[in-house]
Amino acid sequence: MPYRLDAMTLRDIPEVIEIERLSFSMTWPANSYKRELEQNRLARYIVVRYEPGPGDPPPPPRPREARRPFPLSLLPLPGERWAAPEGTDAVIGYGGLWLMMDEAHVTSIAVHPALRGRGLGELLMLSLCQMAMDLNARWVTLEVRVSNNVARALYEKLGFRQAGVRQRYYTDNNEDAVVMWSDELRSAEFRERLAAQKAELARRLTWTSTL
Ligand SMILES: CC(C)(COP(=O)(O)OP(=O)(O)OC[C@H]1O[C@@H](n2cnc3c(N)ncnc32)[C@H](O)[C@@H]1OP(=O)(O)O)[C@@H](O)C(=O)NCCC(=O)NCCS
Repeated sequence: MPYRLDAMTLRDIPEVIEIERLSFSMTWPANSYKRELEQNRLARYIVVRYEPGPGDPPPPPRPREARRPFPLSLLPLPGERWAAPEGTDAVIGYGGLWLMMDEAHVTSIAVHPALRGRGLGELLMLSLCQMAMDLNARWVTLEVRVSNNVARALYEKLGFRQAGVRQRYYTDNNEDAVVMWSDELRSAEFRERLAAQKAELARRLTWTSTL
């Protein structure tokens, strides 16, 4: 079971910040995660770890694009700094939400660039939705950059629908945000979809969870 979902702890913050740095053009202030974990009672954060056990393959190799001939190989690249020694439980992705009344607002989600496209983003989103259901939220909502086609495809795959646009929401480049909402979490339709997608994902990868 090489992947494990856990609640984020203070110990995870440096790895989370590194993934954030590699994933977003705007990052949170340095002490934000600590404050979120210690003081924000409405916040829930999770991480996914890679934890090879006996017989599991070693950490996956970096993507082909990242391997470059010497001397270019000496220059840092996104993804370069991730190298989980065998037997460790490196954080390779994270996500979080705020519970506001009956809405769960996804505040952040990212997977290490070297490990994208394996279903881990979907695993994190499914887990956040499950967590929102367990907390009795009725909907999940989020904002996503108009240009972020990968994330939008992920959310659409999970049944999220576009509900509006917040103009110039992102201050680094004045990009608009698309606001998306899930179906009502308590609906049979949503629950069935969630269960079916989890089962489908379980055919692609295996994980354990302490959530
Ligand atoms: C968005 C993100 C979390 C997705 O994680 P991931 O592990 O690469 O995604 P998954 O492998 O779980 O893919 C799930 C779905 O996302 C979509 N997707 C993933 N990679 C894609 C790609 N390169 N092109 C188009 N759609 C893609 C697909 O719908 C995919 O479903 P499929 O596997 O059935 O095709 C990841 O790309 C990331 O960290 N991006 C940077 C941070 C970010 O943009 N976060 C979102 C902020 S709103």
